[in-house]
Amino acid sequence: MHDFKLRRGQLYCERVAVNRIAEAVATPVYVYSHHTLVDHFQKLQRAFRRLHPMICFSVKANGNLAILKILVGRGAGLDIVSGGELYKALRAGCPPGRIVYASVGKSRQEIREALRAKIFCFNVESIAELEAINEEAGRLGRIAPVALRVNPDVEAHTHRYITTGTAESKFGIPLAQAESLIAGRWRALASTRLLGFHLHIGSQITKAAPFIEAIRRVGRLIERIRRRGMQIEWLNLGGGLGIVYKAERPQTAQAFAEAVLPHLLPLKTRLILEPGRFIAGNAGVLITQVLYRKETHGKRFLVVDAGMSDLIRPALYGAYHEVVPVISDKRQATSDKRQAYDVVGPICESADVLARDRRLPTLGEGDRLAILGAGAYGFVMASNYNGRTRPAEVIVKGSRWFLVRKRETRADLLRGETTPAALTT
Ligand code: LLP
Repeated sequence: MHDFKLRRGQLYCERVAVNRIAEAVATPVYVYSHHTLVDHFQKLQRAFRRLHPMICFSVKANGNLAILKILVGRGAGLDIVSGGELYKALRAGCPPGRIVYASVGKSRQEIREALRAKIFCFNVESIAELEAINEEAGRLGRIAPVALRVNPDVEAHTHRYITTGTAESKFGIPLAQAESLIAGRWRALASTRLLGFHLHIGSQITKAAPFIEAIRRVGRLIERIRRRGMQIEWLNLGGGLGIVYKAERPQTAQAFAEAVLPHLLPLKTRLILEPGRFIAGNAGVLITQVLYRKETHGKRFLVVDAGMSDLIRPALYGAYHEVVPVISDKRQATSDKRQAYDVVGPICESADVLARDRRLPTLGEGDRLAILGAGAYGFVMASNYNGRTRPAEVIVKGSRWFLVRKRETRADLLRGETTPAALTT
């Protein structure tokens, strides 16, 4: 599942003691396992091998260039959502023919950049956007490859902030609208070519049923479109596969493939998958250090040096991330010696709680903790709030580790700012 294990009371990432990394680069620091990343990617590849899918890692989950390069080097494509991510994808050496681009709000400039780069496909989210892409492609003398992101109106049974395929969601085009668009208005859009359909019904989905229902619905649409004599070559199933944060029982890649393949194979389309969390989520931890132990009216806090500016998931979604000491003292290993703590960050917000009510041994200043499951939507959502520099990132490969992003410096906090004299005189 992942390569973070306790051995003789020490947390290891692959064959490196995490504490050594923290000593060398200080905290907070994100530590990723190379093996876990590659293993998760390959598990999906193997599970779906009958369809030879194009697996486009979702850059939004973790955009570290080294991580993108590792996955691209193994044959991954990339799922992007902005001109910035296009830039990163190209810098990571991703062949443009393996880049897919979703987003409800692609600007004209972003559309032009993606057309010039010759990406594989635009996942189009509205009729107005389709017209803009058609216009820009026409001006550049190109034919834009397009998949319609359809909204199948299925409930993904996940957090309401990360469910995306229900009728009231801003994402995608309703199935009926997609059909009438293809049958009607599309004929006038001479600079686009319809490759197929895109679905993404949400994130952290632990069951196959919502995917199957979405495939059924889009399958009926594909049939009807084909009856009109049009070709549909591709189906993009999006991302959304859930992982273990606490006690979830998510499906393995194999079980997921076994559940959805019987519904996919009859469609006779090529397949794209856009996993983010499944590949990177459990491949990363955030290491932090205790600053103070604090007790108030019956409550115990560990104040640590990482906060919601480094990992916002607990504050934003009430997300649960497991917390483990980087070095466990054997005498305190038994649970009766443990006490319940809230692990809180230094930021001036009541929401800056990384973990609530966790039974932890007595820790003090300088002791380190690992926040697990932080490899996806961790660093990418970090900010400079409260004048904090964003953390360093490290990748472990076997018995070696590599700094792949330096901790930001104070100078980075002022980058791009200017104060013309006229403002202060
Ligand atoms: N494809 C599309 C079109 C997406 O919008 C997303 C994620 C993915 C693929 C990848 O989904 P995944 O396989 O990672 O579930 N910040 C939130 C998650 C937001 C997901 C946004 N879209 C969190 O921390 O839980």
